[in-house]
Amino acid sequence: MRLHAERLTVVSPDSRLEVEFSLPGGVPHYEITYNDLTVIAPSSLGFTFRNEPPMKEGFLVERTTTRRFDETWKPVWGQRSEIRNNYNELVVSLREDTEPNRRVDIIFRVFDDGVGLRYVFPDQDALKDFEIMSEETQFALAGDYRAWWTPADFDSYEHLYTEGRAGDIKAANTPVTMKTEDGLYIVIHEADLTDYAGMTLARAKEPLLGLVSRLVPWPDGSKVKGTTPLSTPWRTIQVATRPGGLLESSLILNLNEPSRVDDTSWIKPMKYIGIWWGMHIDKYTWHIGERHGATTENAKRYIDFAARHGIHGVLIEGWNTGWDRWGQKGAYDYVTPYPDFDLEEVAAYARGKGVSIIGHHETGGDVPGYEKRLDEAFELYHHLGIPAVKTGYAGSIFPRGYHHHGQWMVRHYRMVVEKAAQYRLMLDVHEPIKDTGISRTYPNMMTREGVRGTEYNAWETGNPPEHMTILPFTRMLAGPLDYTPGIFDLTFDEHKPDNRVHSTLANQLALMVVLYSPMQMAADLIENYEGHPAFAFIEAVPVDWDESRVINGEIGDYVTMARRSGTGWYVGSITDESARALTIDLKFLQPGMKYIARIYADAPDADFRTNPAAYEIREREVTREDVLTARLAPGGGQAITIIPQ
Ligand code: NOJ
Ligand code: CA
Repeated sequence: MRLHAERLTVVSPDSRLEVEFSLPGGVPHYEITYNDLTVIAPSSLGFTFRNEPPMKEGFLVERTTTRRFDETWKPVWGQRSEIRNNYNELVVSLREDTEPNRRVDIIFRVFDDGVGLRYVFPDQDALKDFEIMSEETQFALAGDYRAWWTPADFDSYEHLYTEGRAGDIKAANTPVTMKTEDGLYIVIHEADLTDYAGMTLARAKEPLLGLVSRLVPWPDGSKVKGTTPLSTPWRTIQVATRPGGLLESSLILNLNEPSRVDDTSWIKPMKYIGIWWGMHIDKYTWHIGERHGATTENAKRYIDFAARHGIHGVLIEGWNTGWDRWGQKGAYDYVTPYPDFDLEEVAAYARGKGVSIIGHHETGGDVPGYEKRLDEAFELYHHLGIPAVKTGYAGSIFPRGYHHHGQWMVRHYRMVVEKAAQYRLMLDVHEPIKDTGISRTYPNMMTREGVRGTEYNAWETGNPPEHMTILPFTRMLAGPLDYTPGIFDLTFDEHKPDNRVHSTLANQLALMVVLYSPMQMAADLIENYEGHPAFAFIEAVPVDWDESRVINGEIGDYVTMARRSGTGWYVGSITDESARALTIDLKFLQPGMKYIARIYADAPDADFRTNPAAYEIREREVTREDVLTARLAPGGGQAITIIPQ
């Protein structure tokens, strides 16, 4: 078949989204429309290599195949208990029409809520081992859309968001969220990042208005080292007509492979507390000394508190030696406790109380050092009945020149997930590679940071209230985030008078519903929870959901999430620095049922600047006929439990 000028189209199951593939002058292009509105204008696809001619033009279509797919699957944990995976697929097999006649397939999957596109380099004599120097997937825009993004950074996602015009983006980490003039919401991200470099987006070359993929490099400047056959991650374009629609999508998970962990009975979402915030506010230290946080005695105090309050897990940071040499090579061996911490005794104590310890491995970026000790370190936790580990990669990667988000580290992070599965360990990764939905394949990959979280409030200027109203529509679309909410002592003047959390107490409660994580931390010191009436919400809120809905939402302004677990509903609303009254229509409740709503609200005089801890709790009977008004203070929030009578 010589189909130089042919146009091929594939539509979503509901026929609203359409992808058109074309080959003008032998250059592969795709274009996406939604109800005839342009989502992505004609955009070219291609690669350059080391010691190989580029693959950008001179193609002909050798073959095309189409396929429909429709399944419903049940995640081990998640924001919903059933996920429909329904798409139409087009595979375009391309071949260069001159020597060396290399081949590449481009696969499009078109869902009702977005598009995935990936390249597959088949096994072929003309292309064996190769090094990609650039992937040039364009995302051309039909207008200068409004956009929310963080700057491209090859080592960190811990940034505040910029709201501006897509044309102002020089380079960004994904997900990047945009709103078109027609009112469509678009998000560019990636799915199934397995053995490839992380993708950032750079401004496309003029005159094109838009973005182009830019991969994170190896120290030698190449981006991906591969051998055919090789599949790239999916480049994803989510589309919704309202901001909340973005959150109700499971596109990223659907573009990952089903679980490779056969027995998942040991994988359990959990709420946790920990010896953690105390170090960030300088009450404790990670390293040994007078203020050492991770002592046997303190750990038992946290375990006792967890057991009394139905909190499943206790994170213990700073239990192992090496913290005085944090950031140096070989600082940690991951198995030797400080002399004032008896790991075996603490683990046995926790087991006796039915509490799970979350172990901790801070690598300080020393990846080779960690890999050397990994089996031994995981075996130790497994042997002691410790079911989860938080890992950390704070600082530059050893060997220097490697980036957190490059292919070498993508391989490392994946190897750790696979090994953790072998040792039946759940993972919470800090300074991670971004989430691209691999928890479908490895459900022990519970949560990760990759976000500017609560800890920033303990340092410098912290996170403004607006930040948390942007996260659901940006970072959270990638997957769960270990934001670590739940701070009650918002000013912690006793410890650090110059720093504070920029939100109200009710906002901190609401974040436990708004920001999804299957390992959700109540991050404050336990002494700030002891005897506090508002802690009842943290005790009550589930960490695994049957259903999740967005009731209100404007990116950067406010959001109301309603989530169901069994017959109970949990509603969280948050606002930016402006006070607001949000309407919560309870029509999602079951007909004919009466419920008790327990409302944890900002007090009338609450304000994140002047009176952050002022809250009130009230109760009322509700049915699905009721419409509530949530009055939120500046930087405020509201959390509600709605339980059948
Ligand atoms: C940074 C992480 O974000 C934080 O959670 C952790 O406590 C420190 N590194 C130390 O590992
Ligand atoms: Ca961090």
